[in-house]
Amino acid sequence: MHEILEKLDKRRANARAGGGQKRTEAQHARGKLTARERIELLLDANSFEEFDIYVEHRATEFGMAETRIPGDGVVTGWGTVNGRVVYVFAKDFTVFGGSLSEAHARKITKLQDMALKNRAPIIGLFDAGGARIQEGVDALGGYGEVFQRNVLSSGVIPQISVIMGPCAGGDVYSPAMTDFIFMVRDTSYMFVTGPDVVKTVTNETVTAEELGGASVHTTKSSIADKGFDNDVEALLQMRRLIDFLPSSNTADVPQLPQLDSAEEMVDSLDTLIPTNPNQPYDMKELILKTVDEGDFFEIQEAHARNIITGFARIKGRTVGIVANQPTVLAGVLDSDAGRKGARFVRFCDCFNIPIISFVDVPGFLPGTAQEYGGLIKHGAKLLFAYAEATVPKVTVITRKAYGGAYVVMASKHLRGDINYAWPTAEIAVMGSKGAAEIIYRAELSDKDKIAARIKDYEDRFANPFVAAERGFLDDVIMPHSTRRRVARALDMLRAKKLENPWKKHDNIPL
Ligand code: HXC
Repeated sequence: MHEILEKLDKRRANARAGGGQKRTEAQHARGKLTARERIELLLDANSFEEFDIYVEHRATEFGMAETRIPGDGVVTGWGTVNGRVVYVFAKDFTVFGGSLSEAHARKITKLQDMALKNRAPIIGLFDAGGARIQEGVDALGGYGEVFQRNVLSSGVIPQISVIMGPCAGGDVYSPAMTDFIFMVRDTSYMFVTGPDVVKTVTNETVTAEELGGASVHTTKSSIADKGFDNDVEALLQMRRLIDFLPSSNTADVPQLPQLDSAEEMVDSLDTLIPTNPNQPYDMKELILKTVDEGDFFEIQEAHARNIITGFARIKGRTVGIVANQPTVLAGVLDSDAGRKGARFVRFCDCFNIPIISFVDVPGFLPGTAQEYGGLIKHGAKLLFAYAEATVPKVTVITRKAYGGAYVVMASKHLRGDINYAWPTAEIAVMGSKGAAEIIYRAELSDKDKIAARIKDYEDRFANPFVAAERGFLDDVIMPHSTRRRVARALDMLRAKKLENPWKKHDNIPL
């Protein structure tokens, strides 16, 4: 018996060695951890239960019959993050570059099926070169099976991808269909085809970083939601993110112990809005002073910075925050902001996370660049997302809420549950100057007259009370009471039940 146990030990150790010492050293030399080291950091200590450690590929072409490595380039299993079950797979770059074979795909699809059946999040740690070239169509088919499951799981369980090395082909398309993509700066890349292929096809010379590094994907392309400095930071931040997320679309949001009171008044908010209405202020200050312990996990913070999105907690329960940012483009809505906001709102709605919107928006960004770039459709995404959302929606207008952007930002007209405004709010079709100059165009040459018209418009409309008189606002609140009022609104909405008419699925303007 002792011998049998020893054999098992040896077999396990052999599998755990992956692609061998030399390749592991190369992985470390590049500043990357191995697949197993990553899993260990991500999960609670000793909680990982591995599956399919002995699985090997069955390919024979191109000398593959002689090169079989147990595990076949991916480590799969489940464990816990602060006690909650998650499924995890980590590509092992030391084994065939983490590339996906038929057998490797089966390991992943088995895990995807389990995660979906058992309603728990699935996290993929990617460090891989796509389809295993030696396997051809068998590998392609494997990806197809993974993609299909990504889609079926979408909106049922959270799917998270962390890009931790050079990733190409299927190893970027599968992440693209998950809820969030995170990257590690300077060691991870994402591209459909790498720099060599780009050079051959388009004659462009480009580095991996320029083509698909975190610096590109967290800003320009917006493919990635956040970048981290190294593997350790990325994995620890994933633990933080998991704490915010419900396990599935039928699970409640996590409830964490609340350390600070929601009854406290925050007097500094009374002076947040500058006297000059054109002067910016940092909306993040309001967010941090409203949520529990100032703990805010921002999503897409380096892209479309004129809108802020992220997770926080109020009274220990997760909320999604969407807020215009007056310090960037005056908080205007443009195409990028429309897309960013819409995707976040839809994630929250999928997973029953209440949405708090802080509004200070001068409208949609005018200009040919925006119009040619599809502003109408991209802006409509955010409108659509807010309108279809059935989760509790609490809105606070701090200052400007002009035109269509007023309607879009979770207004009462889009089934906002509780809509508050600060006394500094200005809710109107447009700013006073623009409005007066259109209505009184004939008087434009008379400076005094037009100034009086602007003042008149300002007095009548640049306040929250016209909207409040119509019931479009539920109350005009003191800024210092915002945390308390929002927390109480969420308490009241805890059992909200609202259903949209039956449909196969909607047709959001893509
Ligand atoms: C088999 C692969 C592989 C692959 C890498 N390797 N990619 N083996 N299939 N796809 C192996 C290498 O042979 C090498 O083996 C080891 O992994 C490390 O690779 P290197 O090239 O030495 O590493 P590096 O210089 O860091 O480059 C990493 C890389 C590059 C950028 C990922 O390897 C690369 O470009 N690979 C090919 C990417 C690709 O075109 N894949 C197919 C995509 S098509 P040894 O034994 O030397 O250690 C696809 C279709 C899916 O995925 C469908 C999408 C819709």
